[in-house]
Amino acid sequence: MTINRDSIRQQIRQQRNKLTKQEQQQAAQQLVQQLAKLPEVIHAQHIAIYLSHDGELDTTLFIQWCWQQNKHVYLPVLHPFTRGHLLFFQYTRKTPMQKNKFAIPEPKLNSKTLCPLSKLDLLFIPLVAFDSQGNRLGMGGGFYDRTLVNYQQHLKKPHLIGLAHNCQQVDKVPVDYWDVPLQKIVTPCKVIQPIKA
Ligand SMILES: Nc1ncnc2c1ncn2[C@@H]1O[C@H](COP(=O)(O)OP(=O)(O)O)[C@@H](O)[C@H]1O
Ligand SMILES: [Mg+2]
Repeated sequence: MTINRDSIRQQIRQQRNKLTKQEQQQAAQQLVQQLAKLPEVIHAQHIAIYLSHDGELDTTLFIQWCWQQNKHVYLPVLHPFTRGHLLFFQYTRKTPMQKNKFAIPEPKLNSKTLCPLSKLDLLFIPLVAFDSQGNRLGMGGGFYDRTLVNYQQHLKKPHLIGLAHNCQQVDKVPVDYWDVPLQKIVTPCKVIQPIKA
């Protein structure tokens, strides 16, 4: 199972990193167009997203669009005490940033801008591979799975939406009991909504 997961990760990451700068720029623009018409986005005031790396679909244009729309944007930060978990902090043009151990910039810890999961309307989740059923394979850290463990019990919970390039779709993602499925996946040209059995 692990070998299978790792080989999918390796293969898709390679594909994703082959996209040219131009293709990435076009994808980022198309993503804004897709997201701007999504009901979950239109109705959201508090949106958590992430800064792209490793060939991921570029989220910066969409973040700027959110700011223009006066929506509040939050970014994940590695939890300082609970290993393997994430916290979400507000992100504005003025937020002081620092690189985490993966060299990904994140907001500096600030108790005033910490946002509990229950306050988020929408949580965009990065992924390496996805399938038509909303299953998600991440980079292998399990950060989102751990952070969202009790998510189903929350009275108020954010919509969970994955963002990906089209080339990240696979026939079937191998899932385990801890994997949290996505409600939708948005790519530059389509919205994938799993059919509930
Ligand atoms: N809720 C959880 N509690 C404890 N460990 C977890 C949890 N979710 C994931 N993990 C651990 O994190 C590791 C990576 O998870 P995985 O789902 O493969 O990563 P990703 O979701 O990033 O692809 C796994 O070894 C798994 O046991
Ligand atoms: Mg997982």
